[in-house]
Amino acid sequence: MTVLTTQVAIIGGGPSGLLLSQLLNNAGVETVILERSTREHVLSRIRAGILEWGTVELLREAGVGARMDSEGIPHDGCYMTDDELMVHIDFKELTGKRVMVYGQTEVTRDLYQAQDAAGTTVLHGVSDVEIHDLDQTKSYVEFTREGARKRLECLYVAGCDGFHGVSRKTIPAEKRREFERVYPFGWLGILSETPPVNDELIYSNSRHGFALASMRNANLVRYYVQVPLSDTVEDWSDQRFWDAFSLRIPSEAAAHLVTGPSIEKSIAPLRSFVSEPLRWGNLFLVGDSAHIVPPTGAKGLNLAASDVYYLYSALIDAVKGAGTTGIDAYSTRALARIWKAMRFSWQMTTMMHRFDGEDAFAEQMRKATLAHLATSEAARRDLAENYIGLPF
Ligand code: PHB
Repeated sequence: MTVLTTQVAIIGGGPSGLLLSQLLNNAGVETVILERSTREHVLSRIRAGILEWGTVELLREAGVGARMDSEGIPHDGCYMTDDELMVHIDFKELTGKRVMVYGQTEVTRDLYQAQDAAGTTVLHGVSDVEIHDLDQTKSYVEFTREGARKRLECLYVAGCDGFHGVSRKTIPAEKRREFERVYPFGWLGILSETPPVNDELIYSNSRHGFALASMRNANLVRYYVQVPLSDTVEDWSDQRFWDAFSLRIPSEAAAHLVTGPSIEKSIAPLRSFVSEPLRWGNLFLVGDSAHIVPPTGAKGLNLAASDVYYLYSALIDAVKGAGTTGIDAYSTRALARIWKAMRFSWQMTTMMHRFDGEDAFAEQMRKATLAHLATSEAARRDLAENYIGLPF
Protein backbone atom coordinates (compact mmCIF):
# COMPACT_ATOMS: atom_id res chain seq x y z
CA MET A 1 0.00 0.00 0.00
CA THR A 2 1.26 3.51 -0.81
CA VAL A 3 1.96 5.36 2.41
CA LEU A 4 2.01 9.16 2.52
CA THR A 5 2.99 11.23 5.53
CA THR A 6 1.99 14.70 6.63
CA GLN A 7 1.48 16.69 9.80
CA VAL A 8 -2.19 17.61 9.39
CA ALA A 9 -4.53 15.52 7.21
CA ILE A 10 -7.46 17.61 6.03
CA ILE A 11 -10.60 15.78 4.93
CA GLY A 12 -12.52 17.98 2.52
CA GLY A 13 -11.35 20.46 -0.12
CA GLY A 14 -14.07 23.06 0.31
CA PRO A 15 -13.40 26.55 1.64
CA SER A 16 -12.80 25.54 5.28
CA GLY A 17 -10.30 22.79 4.45
CA LEU A 18 -8.49 25.00 1.96
CA LEU A 19 -8.34 27.99 4.30
CA LEU A 20 -7.04 25.88 7.18
CA SER A 21 -4.44 24.35 4.88
CA GLN A 22 -3.37 27.76 3.62
CA LEU A 23 -2.92 29.20 7.12
CA LEU A 24 -1.02 26.11 8.29
CA ASN A 25 1.24 26.06 5.21
CA ASN A 26 2.02 29.75 5.71
CA ALA A 27 3.35 28.82 9.16
CA GLY A 28 5.41 25.91 7.82
CA VAL A 29 3.01 23.16 8.89
CA GLU A 30 2.53 20.44 6.26
CA THR A 31 -0.92 19.38 5.12
CA VAL A 32 -2.52 16.98 2.66
CA ILE A 33 -6.12 17.61 1.59
CA LEU A 34 -8.34 14.68 0.60
CA GLU A 35 -11.40 15.62 -1.47
CA ARG A 36 -14.11 13.35 -2.81
CA SER A 37 -15.06 15.29 -5.94
CA THR A 38 -13.19 17.11 -8.68
CA ARG A 39 -12.06 20.69 -8.36
CA GLU A 40 -14.52 21.64 -11.12
CA HIS A 41 -17.36 20.18 -9.09
CA VAL A 42 -16.32 21.99 -5.90
CA LEU A 43 -16.16 25.24 -7.89
CA SER A 44 -19.57 24.72 -9.46
CA ARG A 45 -21.39 24.84 -6.12
CA ILE A 46 -23.08 28.18 -5.63
CA ARG A 47 -23.23 29.18 -1.98
CA ALA A 48 -23.83 32.35 -0.02
CA GLY A 49 -22.07 35.59 -0.74
CA ILE A 50 -21.71 37.62 2.44
CA LEU A 51 -18.41 37.78 4.32
CA GLU A 52 -18.25 39.13 7.84
CA TRP A 53 -15.36 41.54 8.37
CA GLY A 54 -13.59 38.98 10.58
CA THR A 55 -13.69 36.56 7.64
CA VAL A 56 -12.39 39.28 5.31
CA GLU A 57 -9.46 39.90 7.67
CA LEU A 58 -8.73 36.19 8.04
CA LEU A 59 -8.64 35.76 4.25
CA ARG A 60 -6.24 38.69 4.00
CA GLU A 61 -4.09 37.23 6.76
CA ALA A 62 -4.01 33.96 4.82
CA GLY A 63 -2.72 35.90 1.79
CA VAL A 64 -5.79 35.30 -0.35
CA GLY A 65 -7.51 38.69 -0.06
CA ALA A 66 -6.29 40.46 -3.22
CA ARG A 67 -9.12 39.62 -5.64
CA MET A 68 -11.72 39.92 -2.85
CA ASP A 69 -10.43 43.42 -2.11
CA SER A 70 -10.58 44.48 -5.75
CA GLU A 71 -13.82 42.75 -6.83
CA GLY A 72 -15.81 42.40 -3.59
CA ILE A 73 -18.40 45.02 -2.73
CA PRO A 74 -18.46 46.35 0.86
CA HIS A 75 -22.03 46.79 2.11
CA ASP A 76 -22.85 49.21 4.92
CA GLY A 77 -26.39 47.98 5.53
CA CYS A 78 -29.37 45.90 4.46
CA TYR A 79 -33.16 46.07 4.48
CA MET A 80 -35.65 43.95 6.42
CA THR A 81 -39.20 44.31 5.15
CA ASP A 82 -42.74 42.97 5.41
CA ASP A 83 -45.86 44.13 3.58
CA GLU A 84 -46.05 47.28 5.69
CA LEU A 85 -42.60 48.23 6.91
CA MET A 86 -39.20 48.63 5.30
CA VAL A 87 -36.52 48.80 7.98
CA HIS A 88 -33.00 49.86 7.11
CA ILE A 89 -30.26 48.28 9.22
CA ASP A 90 -27.28 50.60 8.98
CA PHE A 91 -24.36 48.36 9.99
CA LYS A 92 -21.82 51.14 9.64
CA GLU A 93 -23.64 53.63 11.83
CA LEU A 94 -24.74 51.04 14.41
CA THR A 95 -21.50 49.07 14.74
CA GLY A 96 -18.80 50.95 12.83
CA LYS A 97 -18.34 47.83 10.69
CA ARG A 98 -19.57 46.45 7.35
CA VAL A 99 -19.74 43.19 5.43
CA MET A 100 -18.28 42.23 2.06
CA VAL A 101 -20.32 40.87 -0.84
CA TYR A 102 -18.04 38.24 -2.41
CA GLY A 103 -19.23 34.76 -3.38
CA GLN A 104 -18.08 31.67 -1.52
CA THR A 105 -17.29 30.13 -4.89
CA GLU A 106 -14.82 32.95 -5.55
CA VAL A 107 -13.24 32.52 -2.11
CA THR A 108 -12.78 28.83 -2.92
CA ARG A 109 -11.27 29.63 -6.32
CA ASP A 110 -8.78 32.06 -4.72
CA LEU A 111 -7.83 29.46 -2.13
CA TYR A 112 -7.20 26.78 -4.78
CA GLN A 113 -4.98 29.19 -6.65
CA ALA A 114 -3.02 30.00 -3.50
CA GLN A 115 -2.67 26.30 -2.65
CA ASP A 116 -1.38 25.63 -6.17
CA ALA A 117 1.15 28.45 -5.79
CA ALA A 118 2.27 27.04 -2.43
CA GLY A 119 2.64 23.61 -4.01
CA THR A 120 0.50 21.80 -1.43
CA THR A 121 -1.02 18.38 -2.03
CA VAL A 122 -4.74 18.35 -2.76
CA LEU A 123 -5.93 14.88 -3.79
CA HIS A 124 -9.25 14.75 -5.65
CA GLY A 125 -11.40 11.71 -6.41
CA VAL A 126 -10.83 10.21 -2.96
CA SER A 127 -13.41 7.71 -1.62
CA ASP A 128 -14.02 5.27 1.26
CA VAL A 129 -12.16 7.41 3.78
CA GLU A 130 -11.54 5.83 7.18
CA ILE A 131 -9.87 7.63 10.07
CA HIS A 132 -7.87 5.48 12.51
CA ASP A 133 -5.85 5.61 15.74
CA LEU A 134 -7.26 8.92 16.89
CA ASP A 135 -6.26 8.10 20.45
CA GLN A 136 -2.61 7.38 19.53
CA THR A 137 0.32 9.80 19.18
CA LYS A 138 0.08 9.28 15.41
CA SER A 139 -3.11 8.71 13.48
CA TYR A 140 -3.75 7.67 9.90
CA VAL A 141 -6.38 8.02 7.22
CA GLU A 142 -7.03 5.26 4.70
CA PHE A 143 -8.71 5.99 1.40
CA THR A 144 -9.19 4.77 -2.15
CA ARG A 145 -7.92 6.75 -5.10
CA GLU A 146 -7.48 5.66 -8.72
CA GLY A 147 -8.54 2.16 -7.74
CA ALA A 148 -5.88 1.69 -5.06
CA ARG A 149 -6.08 1.78 -1.28
CA LYS A 150 -3.71 4.36 0.26
CA ARG A 151 -2.68 5.41 3.72
CA LEU A 152 -1.94 8.92 4.96
CA GLU A 153 -0.08 9.07 8.28
CA CYS A 154 -0.43 12.24 10.31
CA LEU A 155 -0.37 13.88 13.72
CA TYR A 156 -3.80 15.48 13.47
CA VAL A 157 -6.91 15.20 11.31
CA ALA A 158 -9.17 18.16 10.45
CA GLY A 159 -12.70 17.11 9.47
CA CYS A 160 -13.75 19.74 6.93
CA ASP A 161 -15.92 17.35 4.91
CA GLY A 162 -19.34 18.85 5.44
CA PHE A 163 -22.57 17.54 6.87
CA HIS A 164 -22.51 14.24 4.92
CA GLY A 165 -18.80 13.56 5.44
CA VAL A 166 -17.23 10.72 7.43
CA SER A 167 -15.41 12.83 10.01
CA ARG A 168 -18.31 13.49 12.38
CA LYS A 169 -19.48 9.89 12.08
CA THR A 170 -16.02 8.70 13.13
CA ILE A 171 -16.82 9.98 16.64
CA PRO A 172 -18.77 7.16 18.34
CA ALA A 173 -22.49 7.94 18.34
CA GLU A 174 -22.73 7.58 22.12
CA LYS A 175 -20.03 10.24 22.56
CA ARG A 176 -21.83 12.77 20.36
CA ARG A 177 -24.66 15.06 21.31
CA GLU A 178 -26.67 16.33 18.36
CA PHE A 179 -29.13 19.20 18.27
CA GLU A 180 -31.38 19.81 15.29
CA ARG A 181 -34.20 21.95 13.96
CA VAL A 182 -35.51 21.22 10.47
CA TYR A 183 -37.61 23.99 8.91
CA PRO A 184 -40.67 23.09 6.84
CA PHE A 185 -39.58 24.90 3.67
CA GLY A 186 -36.63 25.41 1.35
CA TRP A 187 -35.06 28.26 -0.57
CA LEU A 188 -35.13 28.27 -4.34
CA GLY A 189 -32.18 30.35 -5.55
CA ILE A 190 -31.32 31.65 -8.99
CA LEU A 191 -28.30 33.39 -10.47
CA SER A 192 -29.05 35.79 -13.29
CA GLU A 193 -26.88 38.21 -15.25
CA THR A 194 -28.98 41.25 -14.49
CA PRO A 195 -28.35 44.43 -12.45
CA PRO A 196 -29.31 44.21 -8.73
CA VAL A 197 -32.80 45.46 -7.91
CA ASN A 198 -31.37 47.40 -4.97
CA ASP A 199 -27.89 48.50 -3.93
CA GLU A 200 -28.23 46.69 -0.58
CA LEU A 201 -29.69 43.27 0.26
CA ILE A 202 -33.45 43.05 0.93
CA TYR A 203 -34.80 40.34 3.24
CA SER A 204 -38.54 40.37 2.65
CA ASN A 205 -41.23 38.64 4.66
CA SER A 206 -44.28 39.18 2.46
CA ARG A 207 -47.75 37.68 2.67
CA HIS A 208 -46.77 35.56 -0.34
CA GLY A 209 -43.76 34.13 1.50
CA PHE A 210 -40.12 35.07 2.01
CA ALA A 211 -37.80 36.46 -0.66
CA LEU A 212 -34.18 37.65 -0.55
CA ALA A 213 -32.58 39.96 -3.07
CA SER A 214 -28.81 39.49 -2.99
CA MET A 215 -26.07 40.00 -5.56
CA ARG A 216 -22.58 39.06 -6.65
CA ASN A 217 -21.65 42.11 -8.72
CA ALA A 218 -23.11 44.98 -10.76
CA ASN A 219 -24.43 42.54 -13.37
CA LEU A 220 -25.00 39.31 -11.44
CA VAL A 221 -27.78 38.79 -8.94
CA ARG A 222 -28.58 36.00 -6.51
CA TYR A 223 -32.29 35.98 -5.65
CA TYR A 224 -34.24 33.53 -3.51
CA VAL A 225 -37.86 32.65 -2.71
CA GLN A 226 -39.19 30.39 0.03
CA VAL A 227 -40.73 27.21 -1.47
CA PRO A 228 -42.45 24.10 -0.07
CA LEU A 229 -40.02 21.24 0.57
CA SER A 230 -41.88 19.09 -1.94
CA ASP A 231 -41.07 21.47 -4.84
CA THR A 232 -38.32 20.69 -7.35
CA VAL A 233 -36.48 23.06 -9.70
CA GLU A 234 -38.53 21.60 -12.56
CA ASP A 235 -41.61 23.12 -10.90
CA TRP A 236 -40.07 26.56 -11.25
CA SER A 237 -39.71 28.00 -14.73
CA ASP A 238 -37.82 31.32 -14.86
CA GLN A 239 -41.13 33.08 -15.48
CA ARG A 240 -42.72 31.53 -12.40
CA PHE A 241 -39.70 32.55 -10.34
CA TRP A 242 -39.79 36.19 -11.51
CA ASP A 243 -43.54 36.43 -10.93
CA ALA A 244 -43.20 35.11 -7.38
CA PHE A 245 -40.12 37.16 -6.61
CA SER A 246 -41.58 40.46 -7.79
CA LEU A 247 -44.72 39.89 -5.72
CA ARG A 248 -42.65 39.27 -2.61
CA ILE A 249 -40.23 42.21 -2.67
CA PRO A 250 -41.39 45.74 -1.79
CA SER A 251 -43.34 47.34 -4.67
CA GLU A 252 -40.85 50.26 -4.87
CA ALA A 253 -38.15 47.72 -5.68
CA ALA A 254 -40.34 45.52 -7.90
CA ALA A 255 -41.10 48.59 -10.05
CA HIS A 256 -37.57 48.59 -11.45
CA LEU A 257 -36.80 44.87 -11.29
CA VAL A 258 -34.83 43.72 -14.35
CA THR A 259 -35.49 40.08 -15.22
CA GLY A 260 -33.52 37.74 -17.45
CA PRO A 261 -32.71 34.06 -17.94
CA SER A 262 -31.40 32.18 -14.90
CA ILE A 263 -27.90 30.73 -15.27
CA GLU A 264 -28.24 28.54 -12.16
CA LYS A 265 -31.24 27.37 -10.19
CA SER A 266 -31.26 25.17 -7.10
CA ILE A 267 -33.32 24.39 -4.01
CA ALA A 268 -31.76 24.08 -0.56
CA PRO A 269 -33.55 22.82 2.55
CA LEU A 270 -33.16 24.85 5.75
CA ARG A 271 -31.74 23.27 8.85
CA SER A 272 -30.12 24.17 12.16
CA PHE A 273 -27.76 21.46 13.44
CA VAL A 274 -24.94 21.18 15.96
CA SER A 275 -22.91 18.13 16.95
CA GLU A 276 -20.83 18.32 20.12
CA PRO A 277 -17.94 17.94 20.87
CA LEU A 278 -15.80 19.23 18.00
CA ARG A 279 -12.77 17.21 19.12
CA TRP A 280 -12.28 13.48 19.36
CA GLY A 281 -8.66 12.61 20.17
CA ASN A 282 -6.58 13.88 17.25
CA LEU A 283 -9.65 14.72 15.17
CA PHE A 284 -11.10 18.24 14.99
CA LEU A 285 -14.39 19.03 13.26
CA VAL A 286 -14.58 22.29 11.32
CA GLY A 287 -17.55 24.03 9.64
CA ASP A 288 -20.50 22.10 8.21
CA SER A 289 -19.17 18.72 9.41
CA ALA A 290 -20.23 19.82 12.90
CA HIS A 291 -22.84 22.51 12.38
CA ILE A 292 -25.36 23.75 9.84
CA VAL A 293 -27.24 27.05 9.91
CA PRO A 294 -30.18 28.10 7.77
CA PRO A 295 -28.96 30.69 5.23
CA THR A 296 -31.10 33.54 6.57
CA GLY A 297 -28.27 35.06 8.60
CA ALA A 298 -25.55 34.37 5.97
CA LYS A 299 -23.50 32.64 8.65
CA GLY A 300 -22.47 29.28 7.10
CA LEU A 301 -19.08 30.15 5.62
CA ASN A 302 -18.41 32.74 8.32
CA LEU A 303 -18.82 30.18 11.09
CA ALA A 304 -16.50 27.79 9.28
CA ALA A 305 -13.99 30.66 9.10
CA SER A 306 -14.16 31.30 12.84
CA ASP A 307 -13.65 27.57 13.51
CA VAL A 308 -10.56 27.73 11.27
CA TYR A 309 -9.38 30.81 13.14
CA TYR A 310 -9.57 29.03 16.50
CA LEU A 311 -8.03 25.84 15.17
CA TYR A 312 -5.14 26.93 13.00
CA SER A 313 -2.97 28.63 15.63
CA ALA A 314 -3.82 25.85 18.10
CA LEU A 315 -2.58 23.24 15.58
CA ILE A 316 0.56 25.24 14.82
CA ASP A 317 1.41 25.25 18.55
CA ALA A 318 0.65 21.55 18.92
CA VAL A 319 2.66 20.52 15.85
CA LYS A 320 5.62 22.70 16.81
CA GLY A 321 5.69 21.42 20.39
CA ALA A 322 4.52 24.73 21.85
CA GLY A 323 1.79 23.14 23.92
CA THR A 324 -1.71 21.75 23.62
CA THR A 325 -3.67 24.46 25.45
CA GLY A 326 -5.06 25.69 22.12
CA ILE A 327 -6.25 22.33 20.82
CA ASP A 328 -7.56 21.44 24.27
CA ALA A 329 -9.70 24.59 24.29
CA TYR A 330 -10.78 24.41 20.61
CA SER A 331 -14.14 22.68 21.01
CA THR A 332 -15.31 24.89 23.87
CA ARG A 333 -14.12 28.14 22.27
CA ALA A 334 -15.59 27.40 18.85
CA LEU A 335 -18.90 26.12 20.24
CA ALA A 336 -19.42 29.27 22.30
CA ARG A 337 -19.48 31.32 19.10
CA ILE A 338 -21.33 28.67 17.08
CA TRP A 339 -24.29 28.66 19.47
CA LYS A 340 -24.64 32.44 19.25
CA ALA A 341 -24.70 32.26 15.46
CA MET A 342 -27.21 29.39 15.71
CA ARG A 343 -29.48 31.58 17.78
CA PHE A 344 -29.20 34.48 15.36
CA SER A 345 -29.82 32.34 12.27
CA TRP A 346 -32.81 30.64 13.89
CA GLN A 347 -34.25 33.98 14.97
CA MET A 348 -33.79 35.55 11.52
CA THR A 349 -35.42 32.47 9.97
CA THR A 350 -38.36 32.51 12.35
CA MET A 351 -38.84 36.25 12.01
CA MET A 352 -38.77 36.32 8.20
CA HIS A 353 -40.69 33.20 7.06
CA ARG A 354 -44.30 32.05 7.07
CA PHE A 355 -44.63 28.53 8.41
CA ASP A 356 -47.34 26.34 6.88
CA GLY A 357 -50.27 25.93 9.21
CA GLU A 358 -49.07 28.63 11.60
CA ASP A 359 -51.69 30.50 13.56
CA ALA A 360 -52.53 34.19 13.67
CA PHE A 361 -50.50 34.62 16.84
CA ALA A 362 -47.27 33.56 15.09
CA GLU A 363 -47.93 36.09 12.35
CA GLN A 364 -48.45 38.87 14.89
CA MET A 365 -45.18 37.94 16.59
CA ARG A 366 -43.33 38.34 13.29
CA LYS A 367 -44.97 41.67 12.62
CA ALA A 368 -44.21 42.90 16.12
CA THR A 369 -40.56 41.86 15.78
CA LEU A 370 -40.20 43.96 12.63
CA ALA A 371 -42.17 46.85 14.17
CA HIS A 372 -39.81 46.77 17.14
CA LEU A 373 -36.82 46.86 14.79
CA ALA A 374 -38.36 49.87 13.03
CA THR A 375 -38.66 51.89 16.23
CA SER A 376 -35.78 50.72 18.41
CA GLU A 377 -32.19 51.58 17.62
CA ALA A 378 -31.13 49.06 20.28
CA ALA A 379 -32.97 46.30 18.42
CA ARG A 380 -31.38 47.34 15.11
CA ARG A 381 -27.95 47.47 16.74
CA ASP A 382 -28.45 43.97 18.12
CA LEU A 383 -29.31 42.66 14.66
CA ALA A 384 -26.42 44.57 13.05
CA GLU A 385 -23.90 43.33 15.63
CA ASN A 386 -24.86 39.72 14.90
CA TYR A 387 -25.07 40.23 11.14
CA ILE A 388 -21.64 41.82 10.75
CA GLY A 389 -20.32 38.99 12.96
CA LEU A 390 -19.62 38.54 16.65
CA PRO A 391 -15.93 38.88 17.54
CA PHE A 392 -13.74 35.76 17.19
C1 PHB B 1 -26.40 35.08 -1.11
O1 PHB B 1 -25.97 36.09 -1.66
O2 PHB B 1 -26.38 33.98 -1.68
C2 PHB B 1 -26.95 35.18 0.27
C3 PHB B 1 -26.91 36.40 0.93
C4 PHB B 1 -27.43 36.52 2.19
C5 PHB B 1 -28.00 35.42 2.81
C6 PHB B 1 -28.05 34.20 2.16
C7 PHB B 1 -27.52 34.08 0.88
O3 PHB B 1 -28.54 35.55 4.05
